[in-house]
Amino acid sequence: MRLVAAGALALAISCVAAQPARAQSQLTVYCSVLADWCQLMAVEFEKRTGIRTNISQKGSGETLAQLRAEAANPRGDVWWGGTGDPHLQAAELGLTEAYRSPSLEALLPWARRQAEQSRYRTVGIYAGALGIAFNSELLARKRLPEPRCWKDLLDPALRDEVQMSNPASSGTAYTAVATFVQLFSEEGGFDYLGRLHRNVSQYTRSGPAPARNTARGETMFGIMFLHDAVAEAIEGFPVKVVSPCEGTGYEIGSMSIVKGARNMEAAKRWYEFALTPEAQGLAARAKSYQTPSHPGAVVPPQAPRLADMKLIDYDFAKYGSSAERRRLIERWEKDVGSRAK
Ligand code: F6P
Repeated sequence: MRLVAAGALALAISCVAAQPARAQSQLTVYCSVLADWCQLMAVEFEKRTGIRTNISQKGSGETLAQLRAEAANPRGDVWWGGTGDPHLQAAELGLTEAYRSPSLEALLPWARRQAEQSRYRTVGIYAGALGIAFNSELLARKRLPEPRCWKDLLDPALRDEVQMSNPASSGTAYTAVATFVQLFSEEGGFDYLGRLHRNVSQYTRSGPAPARNTARGETMFGIMFLHDAVAEAIEGFPVKVVSPCEGTGYEIGSMSIVKGARNMEAAKRWYEFALTPEAQGLAARAKSYQTPSHPGAVVPPQAPRLADMKLIDYDFAKYGSSAERRRLIERWEKDVGSRAK
């Protein structure tokens, strides 16, 4: 676990002037987006409120496991970011607090639906679509065709050339498993994952890792949220993204207040700050390119355009339930992850 005080971080990035004159209280944020965005949010929140903010960054599945383990003695105050399914599971398990923000009405319908579905225990803060990324230099060197569809990743010529994350730790990978089941039916989805397994070199712990590894040529293909691969392309890496021809799933990145949070008032202030267009606009400054949930936030021109993609009608109620998540992950571990290739 990486626990970083925003003040220490501000120093590291030469933002000493951002330190508040006096800290009024403190806040611990469990953060499930990329570290740069977690840290920028913490610095900007501290600057505005004087609340000393500690960031602990972990994947969505890992954070859910941590909340469960800490239920009797919560250490985090707010869980900000990460895929929506585990936030819905936390809500169902009573690990998060009901809070009806006055800003809710201003958000896009998918973000409000996430709140309504959880009885106001979570809310949508961004959206992002799942897809394929490939390293264009490696592909050209091997004279392979560009993929267009999920099925293209099953080509036997791609043995050990694909990376995706592990659904037990990563919300991205759980979204992928749920997407394949919804696209191809349960048996078809697991058949796809089983055949894909032969071509997977590594199941990474974190969801964005395959984007980084594809960009750096450590793997030719990755399955991830497209915004994570776009961020690498903007940095100048030879990575291209594909929204698969069969259609694809997406996440509603979410935020929840931890049940029994020690710093409840500070948690609510963070929550309100995070729903403002101003705070959501910080994403692009930190090189994160999701689609924000507040229509007033500037959508970075580089953000993958969800409206141009063939998105499935992702069943958040079903795949956000804890029984379904447990069942699908257990099946993935038994039928796919633990299997010899
Ligand atoms: O950009 C980071 C990101 O892809 C988020 O959009 C997403 O919610 C999160 O990472 C998922 O991370 P993980 O798969 O590790 O839970």
